[in-house]
Amino acid sequence: MEKQEKIRNISEKFYSDIKNVGSLNELNELRILYLGKKSELQNLGSLMRELEPEQRKEFGKSLNELRLNFESQIEELRNKLEIEELNKKLDKEKIDVTLPATKISIGGVHPITKVIDEISELFISMGYDLVEGPEIESDLYNFELLNLPKGHPARDTQDSFYITEEMLLRTQTSPVQARTMLENEEKTPIRIICPGKTYRKDDDDATHSHQFTQIEGLVVDEDISMADLKGTLEIIAKKIFGSNREVRFRPSYFPFTEPSIEVDVSCFKCGKEGCSICKNTGWIEILGAGMVHPNVLEMCGYDSNKYTGFAFGMGPERIAMLKYGINDIRNFYTNDIRFLKQFDRTEGDL
Ligand code: DAH
Repeated sequence: MEKQEKIRNISEKFYSDIKNVGSLNELNELRILYLGKKSELQNLGSLMRELEPEQRKEFGKSLNELRLNFESQIEELRNKLEIEELNKKLDKEKIDVTLPATKISIGGVHPITKVIDEISELFISMGYDLVEGPEIESDLYNFELLNLPKGHPARDTQDSFYITEEMLLRTQTSPVQARTMLENEEKTPIRIICPGKTYRKDDDDATHSHQFTQIEGLVVDEDISMADLKGTLEIIAKKIFGSNREVRFRPSYFPFTEPSIEVDVSCFKCGKEGCSICKNTGWIEILGAGMVHPNVLEMCGYDSNKYTGFAFGMGPERIAMLKYGINDIRNFYTNDIRFLKQFDRTEGDL
């Protein structure tokens, strides 16, 4: 029969074609060619209408068998090719775990940031709140509310970058004290630490920088005394410079505190024997402090008969220079990678 002949031809062609299929793409083309809508098999199927019922049944059966045959052959080859292609891909993407790893540079924490973070954490662990204030400050907060009225001689020691007659780059972090006291409407006790950048019109040299940092502290409550200030600063000084350090207090002057003091620690290098770090005095000055001046309390809305307080200010640059033996403050700001690299990410005491 002519039609059976055709079936045989298609079948033979299929078996010879499938032998040459080497990829999933080629297999797909083969599937379309032999089983698709425009395939010869499909064409033969449409001829069925012309046949006698008897022949139609037989012919339909043959066509069906052929289709099932093609499908199973194609499926079998698809499985085989899929495995082959996956293996090829895995082979190509094989990772050589013995190759040296790519080095990732993670950088380090800047020594000033490190000092600020660690001192802040010490105070936070004692229940202080961390507060920040603006670097562009008004004369009111930077000076007047801190008992430094216009024309006060102590303003001369803080040559300022004025922006307008009223606005300047803050010369100290002390204005955050006044801001916090004024903003506290209920006039409740205060315990804050305020780190931040400060600016003075200084000529840059080994110990001066026109921009530097300070950490301010303020405690206001009933019955706060010099003993509280002394105890607090002693803990901090020993935490920063070592538990064997002695701490001493010298009278000093700041307009916003009365009495005012400066705090020294015994030299951590020579243990008071005298060396270049302590300039042969055995002591190193680390910060300024004092009891908050009643004028400041009153100007900021606190009743100075009820409340007392202490305040202190320290310079992270100075502390970092002492701790790490750095002798030029400009090292902190020139971003020389060889300098900065010495301060890695290792955590721990300052
Ligand atoms: N603001 C002072 C300065 O820049 C440092 C200072 C001294 C802050 C004594 C204080 C303080 O709060 O009580 O020199």
